[in-house]
This record gives sequence, C-alpha cells and structure tokens, in this order.
Amino acid sequence: MKGLSNASSQLKPSSTVAVTARAMELKRQGIDVISMAAGEPDFDTPEHIKLAAKAAIDAGKTKYTPTLGVFELREAIAAKFKRENKLEYAAAQIQVTTGGKQALFNACWALLNPGDEVIIPAPFWVTYPEQVRLFGGVPVFVQTRAEDGYALELDALEAAVTAKTKMIILNSPSNPSGVVYSDETIEGLMAIAEKHDLWVMSDEMYEHITYTGKLPVSAAKFNTDRVMTINGASKAYSMTGWRIGFAAGPAHVIKAMDAIQGQSTSNANSISQWATIAAVNDTSEYINMAREAFRGRRDAIVSGLNRIGLPTPTPEGAFYVLADTTRIHKDETEAAKIILEQARVAVVPGTDFHAPGRVRLSYACSLEQIEEAISRIGKI
Ligand SMILES: Cc1ncc(COP(=O)(O)O)c(C=O)c1O
Repeated sequence: MKGLSNASSQLKPSSTVAVTARAMELKRQGIDVISMAAGEPDFDTPEHIKLAAKAAIDAGKTKYTPTLGVFELREAIAAKFKRENKLEYAAAQIQVTTGGKQALFNACWALLNPGDEVIIPAPFWVTYPEQVRLFGGVPVFVQTRAEDGYALELDALEAAVTAKTKMIILNSPSNPSGVVYSDETIEGLMAIAEKHDLWVMSDEMYEHITYTGKLPVSAAKFNTDRVMTINGASKAYSMTGWRIGFAAGPAHVIKAMDAIQGQSTSNANSISQWATIAAVNDTSEYINMAREAFRGRRDAIVSGLNRIGLPTPTPEGAFYVLADTTRIHKDETEAAKIILEQARVAVVPGTDFHAPGRVRLSYACSLEQIEEAISRIGKI
C-alpha cells in the first residue's frame, strides 16, 4: 500500500500533549498527579462570556458565519487593537480562526514556499517549527540563554539571515521561557526585518499575562505592513476550549488566509465567536485578577524551585518557568520521567523547546498545588 505523505510523516506530535496524556492515564489509575504540563489557565471562563454564548444559542446564531468571522467580532477585535495596542486595523484585515494555532497555520500557508527559511528564537513553542516544515519551510534557530534572561541578541538574529530567509517568528511573552522582549529589542528586530525585507509573525497570545506593569509593545507598531499579529481568546480570557484565535495583517495576506480557511475548516464556531465579543469588549477586571494571581504563583514557584536546588530564572510573562533539572538527571527527558514517576508531578522536558537540561512547569494551578509539587520534587 502506498504510504503517508512526506509532510505528515515528518510531523512530530506535541510533547506537551504526550506528557498530559501520560499524567491523565496515571490519574485514571487513581494516582494523585499534579499536572504542570498543560498550557491553560485553571480559572473558569468568566460568567459574562458564558452568558453571551447562551444568548447566541437562544437567538439562533448557530449557522455558518462569514469565513473571516462575524463582522461584529472583527469590529470588536479592531477596537481592541486600537484601544490596547494603538494599532489601526480595518475589519477586512482581521481573520477569526479556530484557536491561535489555526491563525499561525493559515499565515504560514499563505506566506511560505518550500525552501523558505524562518528564523525562530529558541527556546520556542514547539508548534512553530512543525508548522513551518509542513509547508516545506526550513526553521533556523537562534539560541538564547537562561544566564542572559533569554534576551534576544540582535546581532545573532541578523547573522542568521540569508538570501532564503522569509520570516522571523516573534513570541513575546514567550512560551516556554516567559521572556518579554524590551521595546528596543522589538524595534531593533523590526529594523532587521525592514533591512532584509522579511515578514514578522508576532505571536502575542500572552500579552495580558505580563508582570512588567505595562502591555508589551506590538511589533506592528513599528510597521504594520510586514507583520502578521497573532492573538486569541484562549489564554487571555481562559477560553482554551472555545477555540477562538485571530490574525491581523495586510489585507492581501488576510484575503489569502480567507481562501485557505474557506477551503479547509470554514468559519470558527459561531457561538464561540459571539461569546468572544463579550470577552474582547469587557474583561479588564478578569484579566487583572488572573494576572495578579499568576504573579503570586510565579513568585512561589520560582522561589520554591530555587530553594530545592533547581535553578530557575524569574520570567516576566506567560505562566511557565524553565527549571534547570540537571541535579536530578543531566538529560531533561529522563529528569521529566523521574519527576512524574517519583514525585507524581507532570512537567514537559525542554528537548522539543530547545531548552536543554531544563523542564517546563506551568504554574496555571493553585498555590497549594505549587507548594505540594515543590515539596514532592524536593524529596527526589
Ligand atoms: C505561544 C502560543 N501561541 C499560540 C498558542 C495557541 O493557542 P490556541 O489554544 O488558541 O490555539 C499557544 C497555546 O499553547 C501558545 O502557547
């Protein structure tokens, strides 16, 4: 029998999903596992968003919508960009997608040709290189280090540019390192993009979970014409299961992404779209509550891990830390296994993120769970 396509057989399954599955399996066996592997806020979706979804069902808003997304949602997203990011986008420059993942996927599909190189600062979210490869692109990694607070060295970034480079993927705040790039770094990165005529994919999924006291600057602030801004409802409003993401960028790219989505999944879920209008319009209270809760948990997990001999830098955004686990095992995959099997704490090895010697812990769980996890890991 003829086999699978080259693209699908090269695709790596997500390591986060694999660890979460193993942790769930242990839980099913009645074993008390603390899950610090998955990347989702533990808060419930705010009530007013749920009510908007119920109202949408009652009003019969349960049919196909325009592929780009319902106009009212795109208008609300455009207003959000203006209010929070000082960016001017028309509704025609915004696409609503099935989660942020699909926004990235559509944009990669619209922009990449086989052989195009895409620069990705490492550690990175595991999905980026896989999506780039799916379209025949070649990921090129620029390593950043814990000792430097995962700061992006602009000279190293520029040194990675070749005649084949088409795009830079920027993710600030970052999953998994939690680094938030300074305004100067983003401005410098945009100058490099300008000089070498590159696209920038700016994944701003964690923009609201930032402990610096201000919203990070959007890359598009420096040049809207070469940036695809990716964001969504999942992390900001605790809506991971609702599957709403969005992309904003030049109209011709959004038009290409519209055609791609129109021939694949069509519109994102109609009820979730109507609920997201409520989320985008009115969530500052929830966002502030969640950010401050995450801040307390971050402080607890960073000090706890350092106390038990797992050096961990303090991240300025998102809800992950990268802990040095070489004390437990020099290989991070082995360390993650030991932590799961002995301490019953699920963590993700840094291997696929290009964070050698480290594991990623998500602190989107209660303070009690964090204290318990530290106490258990400390006994290894
Ligand atoms: C950096 C980053 N971007 C995008 C996404 C995608 O989010 P969604 O669940 O909306 O597809 C995630 C999810 O983990 C993420 O960590």
